Amino acid sequence: MKTIGVLTSGGDSPGMNAAIRAVVRTAHAKGLVVYGIENGYQGMIDNNMRILQPHDVGGILHRGGTFLYSARCKEFRTYEGREKAHNNLKTRGIEAIVVIGGDGSLAGARDLYNEFNIRCIGIPGSIDNDLYGTDMSLGVDTALNTIVNALDMISDTASSHNRTFFVEVMGRNSGYLAAQAALASGAEAVVVPEYKFDWDKGIKQLLDRHNNGYRCNIVIVAEGAGSVLEMASEVKKKAPELDARITILGHVQRGGAPTAYDRNLASILGRTSVEALLDGKTGLMVGTQGGKIAFTSFEDVFNNKSTLDPAIIETLVMIK
Ligand code: F6P
Repeated sequence: MKTIGVLTSGGDSPGMNAAIRAVVRTAHAKGLVVYGIENGYQGMIDNNMRILQPHDVGGILHRGGTFLYSARCKEFRTYEGREKAHNNLKTRGIEAIVVIGGDGSLAGARDLYNEFNIRCIGIPGSIDNDLYGTDMSLGVDTALNTIVNALDMISDTASSHNRTFFVEVMGRNSGYLAAQAALASGAEAVVVPEYKFDWDKGIKQLLDRHNNGYRCNIVIVAEGAGSVLEMASEVKKKAPELDARITILGHVQRGGAPTAYDRNLASILGRTSVEALLDGKTGLMVGTQGGKIAFTSFEDVFNNKSTLDPAIIETLVMIK
């Protein structure tokens, strides 16, 4: 193997740049040519790729977003799209790729290998932390800290006005960010897709707190658990004295400089991904389990769900 490609795909996440940098520099140190593929799989189809030298990835370690850009590419989901992409890879002599992204991105890599024998290692990059096979995906730690900073600010204004805030955080199918942020910020309740929330009980608890002199109530809602607007408007009707307000944190959560944790995780996984390709590995995601590097087959990633640690919710309930 002489030539590889690297791309970021799907929702960006802080730490992707650090991973690209590690892939490029490791590949170079091992005597490989490495292409940066822009705009995810769209760039593969559009032949939007260039050789990266180690100095090209200088000054990006500490930046959020992805300097290779990203996209959610519908065309790549078709065989014709992947065939075009493969022809472009073949012309450049690219035999293997490192894909940094979520499960949709890894599924694209699986198809490319099955249909065209392009070898691939995946690096988990998604703030949702919904990928089976790794303790953490790139960007999760940064997003969580961004959310907790925002919640600290919201609690200042909530207690000044004696209000209840419903705060929506990202997490399409996963309550990881919501639950961890709830515990880290001392929120009163969390609504996640993994557990059914008893609204009658919840409203009663919020009212009890309010009546007992607590001036700040925060309920964190994972976006995958339902509409925060509907939840808050229901509470406004049933308990107007809570003076409910809504904050949707949105894409603020996906940007910003990666934390030291995300940078270092990205660097280690980036380096390991190239070494794995050189060892002949393919069809695997490289992550960590119990803090140690671990490989998981794409099929295992797709066929299993990452689960929410019940200790988070239990602790939240115990000490609220
Ligand atoms: O998968 C990461 C994520 O940030 C989800 O939490 C969110 O639902 C989705 O991406 C938003 O995607 P987009 O930026 O394409 O609207």
